[in-house]
Amino acid sequence: MNSFGRLFRISIYGESHGSEVGILIDGCPSGLPLCESDFKPDLLRRQPGALGTTPRVEKDTLQIKSGVFDGTSTGAPILISITNGNTNSKHYESTLSIPRPGHADFTKKIKYEGHADWRGGGISSGRLTVALVAAGVVAKKTIPHIKIEARILEIGGQTDYQALLQQAINEQDSLGGIIECRVSGLEIGLGEPFFDSVESTISHLMFSIPGIKGIEFGDGFKAAQMRGSEFNDAIIDAHGRTATNHSGGINGGISNGNDILFRVVTRPTASIGLVQNSFNFETNKMEGHQIVGRHDACIALRVPVIVEALTAVALADFNLMRRTQ
Ligand SMILES: Cc1cc2nc3c(=O)[nH]c(=O)nc-3n(C[C@H](O)[C@H](O)[C@H](O)COP(=O)(O)O)c2cc1C
Repeated sequence: MNSFGRLFRISIYGESHGSEVGILIDGCPSGLPLCESDFKPDLLRRQPGALGTTPRVEKDTLQIKSGVFDGTSTGAPILISITNGNTNSKHYESTLSIPRPGHADFTKKIKYEGHADWRGGGISSGRLTVALVAAGVVAKKTIPHIKIEARILEIGGQTDYQALLQQAINEQDSLGGIIECRVSGLEIGLGEPFFDSVESTISHLMFSIPGIKGIEFGDGFKAAQMRGSEFNDAIIDAHGRTATNHSGGINGGISNGNDILFRVVTRPTASIGLVQNSFNFETNKMEGHQIVGRHDACIALRVPVIVEALTAVALADFNLMRRTQ
């Protein structure tokens, strides 16, 4: 549903053009210093502004509504709300009769029998990821010894992508990308051998980011072309350090103490300015349709901080579970 986590549990709410979006965090330990200004650096990293990002700029005014008293977490559920202000819903009215190809308009139209909030993509908007970033700020505070860094590896298949980005924008098209995340300072033993493996938990959260279409750990799909003699990571000391890290820091679902390394792929944005053919539910015919509104030409540009946030949420939960085992 809309909640995730066993001991560090997050619940997301809101819609793109509703009054606010936000996150409820249950299970956050007491005594963590926390104030509204702590969120600013990560919220700024998610904001648009760069070439290829949406012209919809929100102020991201954030309020901690509960669970913090005298500047520290109390142990009670923390409710964080972020106001929506810069909305223009009329551009989305046409999605009711002509769902955008590749977006969630059609699936939600059927699933919710016409009741879903369509404004700005409703709950299926990148806007909600501001709430995920807020959750990440709190999660990171619970695991200060762990360093999580995500970065763009490539966009449209290129590491030097500015010209390609400009070209796609000029052509009213969009681009996908790959983001790599590295986690260091992790203890050995987080994760469970089966359903709560480190890979499955991180993957579950990564696929909660709208527009993520794949993930690989360590060498990932390249492993299919390797031999065991190449892939196996030789253990070089009693702490379990390995000479290589083809497995991406996880064996048998459990962290092995080396860096966790994974990559996610973002699809090219669904909403493009080019005329596309789609089915019109009013005329019952396929027809050419142009999507208007304000969109990111490449969502990968804004995703690294969201990847970091959800990685922190996964590890905060594992960390609490480890403490109770
Ligand atoms: C930060 C961020 C911004 C996004 N901006 C847009 C956008 O401007 N236009 C759009 O069509 N999709 C955008 N998306 C992706 C859609 O929300 C996503 O493609 C849609 O919900 C369908 O889900 P799926 O692609 O995972 O199937 C964005 C996603 C993120 C994470």
